[in-house]
Amino acid sequence: MAAVAQALETPSSVTSIKSLAESSALNTVPSAYAFNINPNDEADPKDPEFAIPIIDMSLLTSGTPEQRSQIIHDLVKICQEWGFFIAINHGVPESLMKAMIDACHGFFSLPDEEKKEFKSGNDVLEMFKYGTSYNLALDKVLLWRDFFKVRTHPEFYSLYKPATFSEVSMEFGKRTREVALEITKAISESLGLEPNYIYEKMNMDRGLQLLAGNYYPPCPQPEHAIGIPHHTDHGLVTLLIQNEMNGLQVEHNGKWLTVNGPANGFFVNLADQMQIFTNGKYKSVMHRATVNNKATRISIAIPHGPSVDTTIAPAPELCEREGKPPKYLAMNYKEYIQLQQSGKNYMKSTFDHILA
Ligand code: OGA
Ligand code: NI
Repeated sequence: MAAVAQALETPSSVTSIKSLAESSALNTVPSAYAFNINPNDEADPKDPEFAIPIIDMSLLTSGTPEQRSQIIHDLVKICQEWGFFIAINHGVPESLMKAMIDACHGFFSLPDEEKKEFKSGNDVLEMFKYGTSYNLALDKVLLWRDFFKVRTHPEFYSLYKPATFSEVSMEFGKRTREVALEITKAISESLGLEPNYIYEKMNMDRGLQLLAGNYYPPCPQPEHAIGIPHHTDHGLVTLLIQNEMNGLQVEHNGKWLTVNGPANGFFVNLADQMQIFTNGKYKSVMHRATVNNKATRISIAIPHGPSVDTTIAPAPELCEREGKPPKYLAMNYKEYIQLQQSGKNYMKSTFDHILA
């Protein structure tokens, strides 16, 4: 691509994509960030085949028994075919969701020098970390995003700047965890198990919850860069919110579909431990984040997983009932995360590496 070939080399002094994108000279994607998106792989959002499933959470929490069983029935197909849905009427106040986005915006708006205080190693289990791209030691192509990650459960940690961050993220973490646990209960039931089955087997009283903020500044050639390339998440279930810009794409029937939904909904994706636990019945959906040339996109992903000391294996009850041997080997969650983030499995589906 001529435009990409002419692009500036990335100056080694660049510590965030935010400052690089704000430098006025930038009208092409620097070669270190060159990534091609194929528009032919994108789904037509008007095609009914790509109508994103919506789950009304209020029918799970306060509907009639019939309404609740209908939702649980719908979940079976959604989890098998999509591994993704939008949760509405979830009870988390819109003002809190907005305050959380504003707090993230406040953090990313700090001077690079101040954000650097939050830099740390590459272990996902650290209290918090801040950086650009994904893992600069492993990235072959740099990603058009800055990020932070904070561990909010079982122990709550927080960024200490901006001043509002801690209070907002504590409440937001608590409320989103309630939503995730409600979803986990409904998924247990959809599998014909006791409502608390997954919670107990995964030791979710000590379950890992992270708060991951992503900052995607406008990109001069959005089709030649990527925010986060295709991947699956390592936990059980991830909730995600964003500011007014779209960018999340999920893979469905071999196409990439841009998620566009009610502004106050949660985007919900199933993750690897759910696929492993259900012996492949439910799907950890492949997804990615694209960038745009209009305005900064901020997203906040809130992954929920087992406790890090849990060993996860396909549920014997499910294997027996379906008459299928376990497809995956048992593995400790912490080791799984480390395997996912090692160079060997960089951006690959880690569950493929523990096939029985
Ligand atoms: C993630 C992720 C997508 C987005 O943080 O794991 O998939 O839309 N983010 O930012
Ligand atoms: Ni993800």
